[in-house]
Amino acid sequence: PVIYAITPTYTRLVQKAELTRLANTFLHVPNLHWIVVEDSNKTSSLVSHLLQSTGLNHTHLHVATPLKFKVRGGMKLKPPRGTLQRNLGLQWLRQAFSANDSQQGVVYFADDDNTYSLELFEEMRFTTKVSVWPVAFVGSLLYESPKVNSSGKVYGWRVLFDPRRPFAIDMAGFAVNLKLILTKPQASFKLTDVKPGYQESSLLTDLVSLGDLEPKASNCTKVLVWHTRTQNPLLRKNITGFVDVIGEV
Ligand code: UGA
Ligand code: MN
Repeated sequence: PVIYAITPTYTRLVQKAELTRLANTFLHVPNLHWIVVEDSNKTSSLVSHLLQSTGLNHTHLHVATPLKFKVRGGMKLKPPRGTLQRNLGLQWLRQAFSANDSQQGVVYFADDDNTYSLELFEEMRFTTKVSVWPVAFVGSLLYESPKVNSSGKVYGWRVLFDPRRPFAIDMAGFAVNLKLILTKPQASFKLTDVKPGYQESSLLTDLVSLGDLEPKASNCTKVLVWHTRTQNPLLRKNITGFVDVIGEV
């Protein structure tokens, strides 16, 4: 099966660094197709040059998040990030393949800032419906994880933040069989009326029930992905003249 990694990304000082690191990871993963979706009105030459230079199989798309859904200071509730971009990635897959297509695949939502072990991709590659595993450094815990019973079934969530969520799992903690995406054409991430932490549930409730989940990473006992977040660089000098380091800004 091919792994379709959907990555939302947006212009900022560290973007080229993030995408470089992610590309370097993906270069070690066989049979991977990278769907990069820029949060912008047009594709940027920074991202298209970077994608070209990696030699990875890729698709380069763009869709801008409307201003009222962009995260700004002083907001009471942070709107979800990367939502329309991931949905566009799903739409692209639905146009590229039909439900009875013989293409075997798995879809993974790979944010540009996380840290992914190579093992993770071989764990997710054989996913019948939705596979799940722990994610480190998220939700105020060293790691969050699905709870797995002795028969290997997921029955709940080891989380601090809102354990009542239908799927209390970070974006980095699951992958979906391509066929399931194709046979459920209405399944999507919701942008409006989504409480913090519910973006993942907003898609997964369209796709599966708890009992369908396939625990990976040795029954969810291993950490294979880290929800790392990159600090914004503090600059004491005007950014002009740094084009070679950060690309065009
Ligand atoms: C957490 C989850 O790990 C995300 O998958 C989830 O989208 C997010 O919460 C949420 O609830 O919306 P966090 O680390 O806070 O993530 O989010 P970011 O890493 O800042 O953003 C997630 C992805 O969206 C990244 O790939 C980022 O490049 C992209 N993004 C972010 C945009 O495309 N546009 C933006 O304005 C901001
Ligand atoms: Mn992140």
